[in-house]
Amino acid sequence: MKIVVAITGASGIELGVKFIELLPKSCEVFVVVSDSAKIVQKLEKKRVKLYQNSEIGSSIASGSFGIDAVAIIPCSTNTLAKIACGVADNLTTRVASVAIKEGKTLLLAPREIPFSPIALENMLKLSRLGVIIAPPTLGYYSNPSSLDEMERFIIGKWFDRLGIENNLYKRWDDEKSDISRDI
Ligand SMILES: Cc1cc2nc3c(=O)[nH]c(=O)nc-3n(C[C@H](O)[C@H](O)[C@H](O)COP(=O)(O)O)c2cc1C
Repeated sequence: MKIVVAITGASGIELGVKFIELLPKSCEVFVVVSDSAKIVQKLEKKRVKLYQNSEIGSSIASGSFGIDAVAIIPCSTNTLAKIACGVADNLTTRVASVAIKEGKTLLLAPREIPFSPIALENMLKLSRLGVIIAPPTLGYYSNPSSLDEMERFIIGKWFDRLGIENNLYKRWDDEKSDISRDI
């Protein structure tokens, strides 16, 4: 699978970095980052191709490149709004608009609390177009005992939706679970 992962200027870039680290070796990974040198440092030794957001002329910006999936983790409400309006003014928003026009998988992980009505409308609009709207939402039914486990739960849910096989979290099993059924 050829996958683009974009990291925008919202809180939670660690989740985007961890998502990239956990991708299986079978994935060809292209990463678009905003101007944060810190992210670049963390990623430059990984088996990924790194792009700056300003590199809008890159091959991944073209529909002919044949990207299978795009994940924007975290996705700022700014980038969400641009994508919802069809704005393609940087490599992240261009790659997202190409995914929509080519009918490819696009997953957005908007991170904000609370969401404004504008952000909610943008998410609904994109969801109706088939875009996967998957904020980093906490889940407790897998009984996480650390931040790492909680992050693996969220990333596992994203992988599931992208069709990437994984064993990153304990799946719900009503026979084995001691959590009350009415939770
Ligand atoms: C410290 C800091 C934290 C931020 N966290 C968020 C956030 O969690 N979610 C969000 O939507 N925007 C957040 N922003 C605002 C975005 O960074 C801002 O809207 C920026 O223009 C996004 O640009 P981009 O979409 O090109 O990455 C934050 C800004 C700062 C300075």
